[in-house]
Amino acid sequence: MTVASEIKATFEFKPGLEGVPATMSSISFVDGQKGILEYRGIPIQELAEKSTFLETCYLLIWGELPTKQELEAFEHEIRYHRRIKYRIRDMMKCFPESGHPMDALQACAAALGLFYSRRALDDPAYIRAAVVRLLAKIPTMVAAFQMMRKGNDPIQPRDDLDYSANFLYMLTEQEPDPLAARVFDICLMLHAEHTMNASTFSARVTASTLTDPYAVVASAVGTLAGPLHGGANEEVMTMLAEIGTVENVRPYVEHCIQNKKKIMGFGHRVYKVKDPRATILQNLAEKLFEKFGRDKYYDVAVELEKVVAEKLGHKGIYANVDFYSGLVYRKLGIPDDLFTPIFAIARVGGWLAHWKEQLAENRIYRPTQIYTGSHQAPYVPIEER
Ligand code: ACO
Repeated sequence: MTVASEIKATFEFKPGLEGVPATMSSISFVDGQKGILEYRGIPIQELAEKSTFLETCYLLIWGELPTKQELEAFEHEIRYHRRIKYRIRDMMKCFPESGHPMDALQACAAALGLFYSRRALDDPAYIRAAVVRLLAKIPTMVAAFQMMRKGNDPIQPRDDLDYSANFLYMLTEQEPDPLAARVFDICLMLHAEHTMNASTFSARVTASTLTDPYAVVASAVGTLAGPLHGGANEEVMTMLAEIGTVENVRPYVEHCIQNKKKIMGFGHRVYKVKDPRATILQNLAEKLFEKFGRDKYYDVAVELEKVVAEKLGHKGIYANVDFYSGLVYRKLGIPDDLFTPIFAIARVGGWLAHWKEQLAENRIYRPTQIYTGSHQAPYVPIEER
């Protein structure tokens, strides 16, 4: 046994911190064996059926369902903070049209911190104002970048539309069908929170330094962008197009397994059964297809899910939240590279809940490491290297 592996064994080093508790939290709960997800104890299926995205955010952030008056006040504040400053729009004009919208969003979220006073973190009014601003403005920034990269002016938010309907309106300049707006709102609810995933961990680490909430969200957006996390939904659609037909599914899966290639939209660090959000999203996709027509890749997706379960089910690899979300978003007319920014719009609710929870009992994150390098190494002059 080398020294490094001995130390590794002593400290029980877990790559990816798998199974290591990073915090105590009462925000959400996952049972990956039974396929259970709860926000503040309420099953996700019940929220998806009865709640709205903003009510769910209130629940996540303040820990209880709001009364009618509390919800109305919260919605009202968010509705009237949707506009973004001209200077942010001017900044966005300098972004390259070819840039990924997640990079644009990360820059915009961080830029908000330039405009709003910093770090009155013990003031509930400051916390509330930051929550309202971030929930209200992030969708406007995503939609504005979409318009600007096509060479158009951003579409101003409409105060008469609800949260989700307004976002879809800002993307297309058309008032969305009520079913489309409701389905989109449910998608946001499903993506709002999911215990200690990579971006939430990133949010909590950043929050623990007592920096401002815009930096917290910006760091979480950067973490969500990767293809092993939020970026997978975009890659699922590329993969479905690459597979192309139902007949190609089985050879594709076999090829991936032989070459140890990950199949996007499958597998999860926690779920060892089908992700409950994937089941809800599949039902939503079918509702949209009934009204607006079937997606040409839906049959490929269903066959892929079947073959992956058959070949990899024994390892606990099943469809995750990202598998069906792309099909839903595409049916709503959303371009593929906005799927992950939409995930971010939703997850702002969860990140803010964790920001608030972290502040309530803060200790700066400062884990340790197992050093595997050398000691007392000589400094070799440059001409001798
Ligand atoms: N396709 C094929 N095999 C897989 C997949 C997959 N999608 N996921 C895991 N496996 C296999 C691995 O090859 C490995 O096999 P082995 O034990 O024979 O070597 C085993 O299952 C364990 O996989 P790990 O990568 O070690 O599992 P981990 O918990 O680290 O990874 C992750 C989870 C990153 C989500 C992984 O399943 C993956 O990369 N999936 C594809 C990307 C994806 O869909 N990401 C979205 C996740 S949901 C979200 O972030 C919102």
